[in-house]
Amino acid sequence: MMTTIEMNPAELNFCPVLTELVQSRRAVGQQGKTFEGLGSLSSVNNLVTLRKLMMEFQSRRTLEIGLSFGGSALVFAASHHDLQRPAARQHVALDPFQKTVWDSCGLMALEHAGLTGYVEFRPAYSAMELPRLIESGASFDLVYVDGSHLFEDVFVDAYFVLRLLSPGGLVAFDDSANRHVAKVLRFLRTNLRGLVEEVDLGRYRPVGGNGIAYALAKRLHKVQLTAFRRVGPAERKWDADFTRF
Ligand SMILES: C[S@@+](CC[C@H](N)C(=O)[O-])C[C@H]1O[C@@H](n2cnc3c(N)ncnc32)[C@H](O)[C@@H]1O
Repeated sequence: MMTTIEMNPAELNFCPVLTELVQSRRAVGQQGKTFEGLGSLSSVNNLVTLRKLMMEFQSRRTLEIGLSFGGSALVFAASHHDLQRPAARQHVALDPFQKTVWDSCGLMALEHAGLTGYVEFRPAYSAMELPRLIESGASFDLVYVDGSHLFEDVFVDAYFVLRLLSPGGLVAFDDSANRHVAKVLRFLRTNLRGLVEEVDLGRYRPVGGNGIAYALAKRLHKVQLTAFRRVGPAERKWDADFTRF
């Protein structure tokens, strides 16, 4: 069931195309493929949180794994625009299925919003593309991991994303209560202390989303979105201890 926040995403008003997408939960692709329900669209909670992180940290270079209908891409691109940055493809979006499964819906949403110039789309699996980004010397201030939710894919995403994060940069994982994702997050918490530090996202959530229920969910690691800040070197010593997780 949709919450009041899901039905009334006033905090997404900064991008009318995004508001329409969230309210109608309908998209039509380039070849006419029609999607209803949009189960893969990020939640309003995640979208609002990403927006607030963007505006507070004024992230200059951003990356997302998983474009789908373009919910998070619209947030990143509109935020770069609202931060008065010239369009320079400073948001990189990875998705091997955008033009097939999703009939280019995400790319079309960006076009309708007039935000294409802020986005560099790479139609590739993250496991293949993230190392290429590292080789090219790229770095990012805010990364959203929302591609495949399989343990092995999220683990590989986390491995490479840590090496792409600028010092102090943030990475946010969607569906962090999902068992696959949660396992990766436990590895970060237990074995990468000193390299990453968990960020309390409470105050970045939508209005009214920061009560006791959220505090409890956070304690139990049952929240939807979990973020870490890079606080040390991306690499640890090759003979570092291994903690069970
Ligand atoms: C939950 S959806 C993304 C939702 C999007 N971030 C939003 O806010 O609307 C997950 C996306 O990840 C893509 N995906 C799946 N496996 C992937 C992989 N290995 N690398 C990159 N993207 C992947 C899917 O095609 C799908 O578009």
